[in-house]
Amino acid sequence: MVAAKPDVQTVRKIVARACRAPSLHNSQPWRWTWNGASLRLYIDDRRLLPYTDAFNRQGIIACGAALDHAQVAGAALGWEMQVSVFPGPLDRSHLASLSFRGRHAPLEADELLGAAIETRCTDRLPFTAPFQWIGLEVVLRTLCRNFGTHLRVLDRSQHRDLNRISDTAAALRRADPRYQDELHGWAGDTWRPYAGIPASARATAQAAEKVATGRMFPVGAADAATHLSIEDRAAIVVLSSDNDTVESLLECGRALSQLLLECTVEGLATCTLTHVTEAPSVRAMVSDLLGLDYPQVLVRIGQATAPSPPRTPRLPLESVFDLDPESPGPGYGRSSAAAT
Ligand SMILES: Cc1cc2nc3c(=O)[nH]c(=O)nc-3n(C[C@H](O)[C@H](O)[C@H](O)COP(=O)(O)O)c2cc1C
Repeated sequence: MVAAKPDVQTVRKIVARACRAPSLHNSQPWRWTWNGASLRLYIDDRRLLPYTDAFNRQGIIACGAALDHAQVAGAALGWEMQVSVFPGPLDRSHLASLSFRGRHAPLEADELLGAAIETRCTDRLPFTAPFQWIGLEVVLRTLCRNFGTHLRVLDRSQHRDLNRISDTAAALRRADPRYQDELHGWAGDTWRPYAGIPASARATAQAAEKVATGRMFPVGAADAATHLSIEDRAAIVVLSSDNDTVESLLECGRALSQLLLECTVEGLATCTLTHVTEAPSVRAMVSDLLGLDYPQVLVRIGQATAPSPPRTPRLPLESVFDLDPESPGPGYGRSSAAAT
């Protein structure tokens, strides 16, 4: 293995792929710095959604997903990276540092996972049942366990109960003007060129009706007209943690990233769901239904019934990635012009 540090161009490639990670309403609450030796991930509290995600759990989970995406992107280029979480006890906004341990020829599995970053998307249409589910379930459970996160698959009778809980969440949120403002600000007709959920990624009213457990978004354009007779047969999994500490949430985000990318490699469509874990009263219903103390995120998984929508936008790299002049490590500034 060659022990070397990547150049700034390589780090930029890794960060760009990391930023393809999913986030609540595509808010992208992250910031990255590179000091020539380590890549640092911070939470950007200007991009949190206080009325949707009152405890910032989803902001941390999204950052965890971006952290894992960075490691996957590095591995696809042959870089072995070591993650250290919450490295500075005095700065809790500094979520993680990634250091580069060396480089070798990338493994095919790593390249596949890296390529999945480019094709993964959130699909809000109905799905048919996932193929080869039993074997995949075991793999997904193991991937999650590697990050201290538990995976539970809902049985069909629990789907009905979850649909009722989802209706309750929607009813509560309809009566919450601040939530609605936030929803329409990020996923409505307000034009956000580099963030938010565009109409092309939101379902039409007819398609949304087919998905009993989806979040209620403003009507969009994603449709599967020829498939509208299809009943949604998605598998639904719940990721849960042992507690709500930021450490566990970050790990849950890393597990979510692994799960979504693995499903993408397997040709499956996914949709992350959190509207039933936001309000404490609704989250308690999910806890009771499944006997889980800390449910964090649900994911619908299945076969897509329409081609993927265009990729959702991301912030320009320049606005989320900086060279860190405070703590220059070896190699800092060598190609700094490339990153500005
Ligand atoms: C923590 C978290 C919560 C999310 N909650 C929902 C949700 O409730 N409903 C939904 O349709 N998508 C949800 N998403 C998916 C995001 O809307 C999506 O990742 C974002 O719009 C970017 O689009 P992309 O995943 O297609 O790249 C969530 C994603 C994350 C990471």
